[in-house]
Amino acid sequence: MIIKPEIQGVVARSAHPLGCEQAVLKQIDYVRQAKPISNGPKRVLIIGASSGFGLAARIALAFGGSKADTIGVSLERAPSKNHVGSAGFYNNYYFRKHATKEGRIAINIHGDAFSKQTKEQVIEAIETYFEGEVDLIIYSVASGTRTNCETGEMWRSAIKPVGNSVSGSTIMLENDAWVESSLEPATSEEAEATLKVMGGEDWESWIDTLINAESIGEGCKTIAFSYMGPEITHPIYLDGTLGRAKIDLHQTSHSLNLKLANFDGGAYATVCKALVTKASVFIPGLTPYLISLYRVMKEKGTHEGCIEQMQRLFSDKLFNQTVPVDGERLIRMDDLELEPETQNEVRLLMNSMNSENFAQLGDYAGLKDEFLQLNGFGFSGVDYDAPANIDKYIKASTC
Ligand code: NAI
Repeated sequence: MIIKPEIQGVVARSAHPLGCEQAVLKQIDYVRQAKPISNGPKRVLIIGASSGFGLAARIALAFGGSKADTIGVSLERAPSKNHVGSAGFYNNYYFRKHATKEGRIAINIHGDAFSKQTKEQVIEAIETYFEGEVDLIIYSVASGTRTNCETGEMWRSAIKPVGNSVSGSTIMLENDAWVESSLEPATSEEAEATLKVMGGEDWESWIDTLINAESIGEGCKTIAFSYMGPEITHPIYLDGTLGRAKIDLHQTSHSLNLKLANFDGGAYATVCKALVTKASVFIPGLTPYLISLYRVMKEKGTHEGCIEQMQRLFSDKLFNQTVPVDGERLIRMDDLELEPETQNEVRLLMNSMNSENFAQLGDYAGLKDEFLQLNGFGFSGVDYDAPANIDKYIKASTC
């Protein structure tokens, strides 16, 4: 099968396995030469491990100094006779291949993080591979839906403003078109559903389940990722349905911190930088901000991707004697993004950006390249005209 990029709107419909291997290797190469992680954990559970921040965290912890064994949970589409499968599937495959080669334990669990069954499967894997305990739990799920495993009810998140409608522009990666749109405010049901999907409830449920199963090691920490962003993004993000869910996540971190204090551990919501991932390109109106931010931060030499953010989090912050936090007990990895000079320049760019000039003013080419690379395209070492042997991956997905 010859695999070419297929994008629908802002969603990738194809992924190249060999390119995904290159993306994993590129991150491994980065952490090998970066400032190493000291005092890091040895047994790590990552929920949402197959792409974006979760994958980067897994790579940093396995290859960036800590030499951690990992269990990764994710929900990805395996390849089949008619479908190539999702990038996350191949990321898992190649992470495991390279981690195992290095002597690390790397277990991939494909399942719905919200379900009881997946939680039970993870406890079993912790018993089998980690002698019953974990030292770090990373919650990095970005999902559009959540099914209540008891009633079968489905909550669907809606990324919308709260209170007032908001107008903004989105760039369709499919055809590079700038599309103006206006979003109506969320109904209270939509806001509630988004909280259920992206708030702290499931993170807490994971930690409670692990505590009840006696799977928490001494000094165990947990983190989950959040975003706040500058004022210009607040109407659609922080003041909208997603922001409400993130505030709930921040509050959850405080109750989890108390629970993990019994194990001499702690829980932290970690505020990251805005980055191109499978999930973030979905946020209406965010792309003009992202391409302006990329341009400014790259020019200043302060730009970081997921892997740079995760390696810095683990080597500079999370495993310090005292974890550096702000007044709301949040770990801030968005410090460089929010530098006043950076934000001034971003605002100026955004004020003059429109459907005609966005590709010249902003770093749209950089964003698009990164998006394609997330799906395994655009790597010089891969022959995209050669057929890919999908059968090999189909076999791997069934055993
Ligand atoms: P991503 O889309 O790259 O990764 C999401 C992960 O969640 C994947 O591993 C996917 O398989 C997994 N997942 C989704 N639904 C699942 C389910 N039902 N069961 C099991 N696994 C499931 O997303 P990204 O951007 O890395 O997001 C991770 C977290 O980081 C989210 O909480 C997001 O809000 C946060 N964040 C993202 C920022 C960004 O700019 N991308 C900035 C700051 C925070």
